[in-house]
Amino acid sequence: MQRIAIFASGNGSNAQRIIEHFNDHPTIRVTLLLCNNPDAYVLERARNLHIPTVVFTRADLNHSQYLLDILTVQGIDFLVLAGFLWLVPDYLLKAYPFRIINIHPALLPKFGGKGMYGMRVHKSVIEAGDSESGISIHYVNAAYDEGQIIFQAKCPVEKGDTAESLAKKIHELEYRHYPEVIEGVMRS
Ligand code: GAR
Repeated sequence: MQRIAIFASGNGSNAQRIIEHFNDHPTIRVTLLLCNNPDAYVLERARNLHIPTVVFTRADLNHSQYLLDILTVQGIDFLVLAGFLWLVPDYLLKAYPFRIINIHPALLPKFGGKGMYGMRVHKSVIEAGDSESGISIHYVNAAYDEGQIIFQAKCPVEKGDTAESLAKKIHELEYRHYPEVIEGVMRS
């Protein structure tokens, strides 16, 4: 069995889809959810889906072996970021080379970088007047949203779209593609 740990910071709707997708998979399972925000709704989702959770601080992430020890003891093979807002530190990148992926709610390299997450991204796309947006799934490296792109999918930004309506379209794309792309990357 290959084991996935999901890192998330907020609502966790992608995390839930990914957990459910692999529930009946013969060789891949989500076995851990890690979160930097003790109040995040994703923790409740994980508990409802019987996935163990770990809540950690910035110091836990950046200045100790605490998380790596947990991932090692739990036999985690692959890390998936799903709405996780902090940079992944070097020691994790080294421990999981090409085995950490992220999803970004726009067509990178546009609308990426520090501070660009969630609704902020959709507001920027609307303000820029772009006629399309989409999702980017990419390997994680030491810079925000700059790792090698694995997959992108597009959707139109129509007249009358708001950041909220665009967010809905983007979430649909994410739910449709992220679990399958994860599966493809883990198989390759
Ligand atoms: C998702 O749209 C994801 O692409 C985005 O946060 C949202 C989390 O939603 N991630 C980023 O913006 C990373 N820069 P969710 O918690 O409901 O899955």
